Order: sequence, then structure tokens, then C-alpha cells
Amino acid sequence: MSTQVDDPRFWDNRYIENSSAWDLKTPTPVFVSLIKKGDFMSPGSLFIPGCGKGYDAVYAAEHGYNVTALDFSEQALMFAKQLAAGKDQKVNFLCEDIFNLEEIPQYDYIFEYATYCAINPDRRTEFARKLSSLLKKEGKLIALLFPVDGRLGGPPFNINVTEAYGIFSTYLNLIFSSKVIDSVKPRMGREVLHIYKKTA
Ligand SMILES: C[S@@+](CC[C@H](N)C(=O)[O-])C[C@H]1O[C@@H](n2cnc3c(N)ncnc32)[C@H](O)[C@@H]1O
Repeated sequence: MSTQVDDPRFWDNRYIENSSAWDLKTPTPVFVSLIKKGDFMSPGSLFIPGCGKGYDAVYAAEHGYNVTALDFSEQALMFAKQLAAGKDQKVNFLCEDIFNLEEIPQYDYIFEYATYCAINPDRRTEFARKLSSLLKKEGKLIALLFPVDGRLGGPPFNINVTEAYGIFSTYLNLIFSSKVIDSVKPRMGREVLHIYKKTA
């Protein structure tokens, strides 16, 4: 069933009205930690679906990643491109609907944050299949699942962690899961980091 969240104008309006409560206004601390520690990631090709204002994309590019960042909101991308302007390392920004993206396995990593919870919940399996199709063999999906606290309504729509695991593990293998992460204070205990690997 189609809902308002399938329409980029819904998201454009949220950005125009400044009602983008998800916006951390800074790179995501959990993602920053992963890049700094390097246990699961080292510079390579990285895809960020639903990149919003692009903080994570720009941060990763500045740390050696070859970044492609996608969002279907022109408003979000306008901000993201301004953020990236003048930096030495370029980000390849795509203004497209993730569901229309051609399925070419081309990325070493995908970082997903607050997009799985923002899309139409009926399309979560389609979303997971799409992300998996974009990963190279041995590539990793870094999925920071938020919100997992059972909230009603949305977006953001609640994520049942067991259900999300079931959906992603249809295509990928879970190699790491933790709730003990560098969440921002208001999201402490309300998000879970899953890292999946594409083995086939
Ligand atoms: C809740 S925001 C999160 C943005 C960013 N990840 C962050 O953490 O700040 C969800 C983003 O996904 C984008 N989005 C939602 N559905 C999309 C789709 N089907 N294709 C591309 N972008 C989409 C929206 O435009 C919005 O910028």
C-alpha cells in the first residue's frame, strides 16, 4: 500500500518546515566510532541510502571512503551538497528513489541509518533485497536500527529487531550485533547496531 512516505514531497516539506527531528546536525557518533576503530571498516566504496543532509557521507569521504550518497529529497540534497562544497574529497550525490536503483553489486559497504524506519514498512523486504543487491561479495551492511523501543505510529516506524534480523538475514549474514554503542543521549537504549556480510 502506498503511503505519504513513498512521496519525496513529504520529505521535502519536512526539511522546508524544519520538522526534521531525526537530524543530528553532525555525523552519527556510532558511525564515526566504526570508522575510527576500523574493526569492521577500512576505506573502500560506501553507499548511504537516505543520506539526508549528508553529514555521514561527507565525514566518510574525508576519511578516505569513496562515497555515493542517495536521497530522493531535493531539499536534503541541496543542504548536503553545500556541506560537501569546498572539501577536497568529493561525494557522489544521487537524487533518486532507492527502489528504482539499478541492482549492480558495486559497494564494499552500505551504511543505513534512519531510512529503514522511514520507508513504507510494507517495503522493508524490498529495501533489504535492494541493499543486498548493491553490495559486492564480502561487502558489509552497517545497519543502525532505530527506533527499537516499540513506539506507535511513524515515521519513524518502530523496528522489531527480531523481525529486521529475519528480513536482512534472508540475503546477508549477521556478523555483529550490539546495543552497547555510542548512541546520542536521547537514543540511548533505543537503537541496535547490526553488521551483516554478503557471503554469496
Ligand atoms: C528520517 S530521514 C534520515 C536521514 C539521514 N539518514 C539521517 O540520519 O539524518 C529519512 C531520509 O530518507 C529519505 N528517503 C525516504 N524514502 C526514500 C526513498 N524511497 N528513496 C530515497 N530516499 C528516501 C528521506 O528523504 C529522508 O531524507
